[in-house]
Amino acid sequence: MTWIRRIGPSRPEVEPAGRPQARGRALKGVLPAVVAVALGALTVGLAPTAGAAPVATGSATARTAVSAAEASTLDDLAQAKGRYFGSATDNPELSDAAYTSILGSEFGQITPGNSMKWDTIEPSQGQFNYTKGDAVVSFAKEHGQAVRGHNLVWHNQLPSWVSSLPSSQVQAAMENHITNEATHYKGQVFAWDVVNEPFNDDGTYRTDAFYNAMGKDYIADAFRTAHAADPDAKLYINDYNIEGQGSKADAMYALVSELVADGVPIDGVGFQGHLAVQYGFPYNMQANMQRFADLGLDVSITELDVRMQLPADATKVASQNSYYKQAVDACLGISRCVGITIWDYTDKYSWVPGTFNGEGSACPWDENLQTKEAYDTLYTELGGTTDPGDPGDPGDPGSGALKVQYKNADSAVDDSAIRPTLQLVNTGSSTVDLTDVTVRYWFTADSAAGSFGAWCDYAAVGCASVKPSVQTMAGAVLGADHYLEVSFSSGSLAPGSSTGDIQLRVSKGDWSSFDESDDYSHGSNTTYQDAPEIGTYIGGAVVYGTEP
Ligand code: G3I
Repeated sequence: MTWIRRIGPSRPEVEPAGRPQARGRALKGVLPAVVAVALGALTVGLAPTAGAAPVATGSATARTAVSAAEASTLDDLAQAKGRYFGSATDNPELSDAAYTSILGSEFGQITPGNSMKWDTIEPSQGQFNYTKGDAVVSFAKEHGQAVRGHNLVWHNQLPSWVSSLPSSQVQAAMENHITNEATHYKGQVFAWDVVNEPFNDDGTYRTDAFYNAMGKDYIADAFRTAHAADPDAKLYINDYNIEGQGSKADAMYALVSELVADGVPIDGVGFQGHLAVQYGFPYNMQANMQRFADLGLDVSITELDVRMQLPADATKVASQNSYYKQAVDACLGISRCVGITIWDYTDKYSWVPGTFNGEGSACPWDENLQTKEAYDTLYTELGGTTDPGDPGDPGDPGSGALKVQYKNADSAVDDSAIRPTLQLVNTGSSTVDLTDVTVRYWFTADSAAGSFGAWCDYAAVGCASVKPSVQTMAGAVLGADHYLEVSFSSGSLAPGSSTGDIQLRVSKGDWSSFDESDDYSHGSNTTYQDAPEIGTYIGGAVVYGTEP
């Protein structure tokens, strides 16, 4: 179990009267005033990092572990699995009482989105101003939360005086900045993003002021300087678009391997996780993160959000749910993944609309601070269970129920296409809105394929409303490393009725052959049979079938 340093154990020891006992969607937007877990001082020894410089043993304050059954918040659930669940925040938001009520109760960790960056802390050379960063730390102390320091060295939000320095003076300025800031927050942050975003998207180094002055050696120097100032802090390198396998992740892996081999005091790698439904889920995220953990390092998801082009629709929301689920699964599947931080919890304060024109809806809470399906996905994926008596709960189809039936008229199990035929049957007593429904057919890709094609060849309900896509699983399991996901852009299914045939087809981008014989969802029956090896979901929660 990985415990992190928490500051100021000020969460109440006793649950206040009137706090809801059971969680369900009926509680949507009704948030507990406080977290109902006891706090206790705990001295922890942080696990030594293989191949890296000495790692700290320090005094930390951590919450007593809670079981999933006792849990009521995302952080409670994560803690029950030995991890934290956090959110970014920012100073202007701290005066929004409705916002801080949730920020202070739902999360065990916070990251200042802007207030510890260079332009805020040292806007003029040698003039340090910690007011904003201190306000975030103070909030964390009041709520018994741990703080990730973000960040010490970054090409962005860097005051112009740094970039204007003669090259010969950049190293001293960088070391002075790191020493001053890491010393100021010593004992108050459990981790630092020491170097943020050192790579371009193609895996080449960013030619910022630091690289131009020192080459890539600035990175090792930054870590050594931070370690000297705060030997107990976990020191991270942090970047985006390194979540999945690819050239940028490979460049990061080569760099981090070298740092570890050289004994540079690096403790972890932060995978930001700024995802977008239109770009697909990162390829083999869990396996990619695992190879960094295998270097003896902690890994964490540090800035998770899943944006989409607006307006949102059922298909995009289903993808968003799937991405949040897969990201959680990736972290939970890696013993050295210490936690997940979302890049602010609400669309009200998300950075996305200000940066990507026409995009948004990236967070698990909406602009009115109401939880979205993404929240339910996170909650259940972290192991939370809901009140089965609540008809609005995820996983409870109410009086509507669905099953999927499958037949396979394609006798070739080793050609370049998988061709399942499905039909959905409403076995309940109320109409099911098909735009809430997704179906998953699990298979193995059998050989590396950069991309997949997925098609609806025929559907009695019309292929125009059937949306097939191929998704990568966070981790391969027996019989499955991908799944064909089918959603619907329109339509409904009356009680007792069926969609009729939906004929689907999947191929790899390189048209290489599959071996379907060992695929989890594959069957050889040529007439319809109930198919519990194919998953059916309503609102992102499984209502029929068993996941592999
Ligand atoms: O503080 C000024 C304010 O005085 C001015 O009136 C206003 C006008 O636009 O701008 C304010 O500064 C903004 C700053 O956030 C503080 O709100 C900047 O314009 C804006 O660009 C800046 O955006 C931040 C962004 O980093 C900058 O790259 C986001 O809030 C912040 O969430 C985002 O966070 C980054 C992580 O640090 C690193 N990973 C990517 C992530 C998302 O971009």
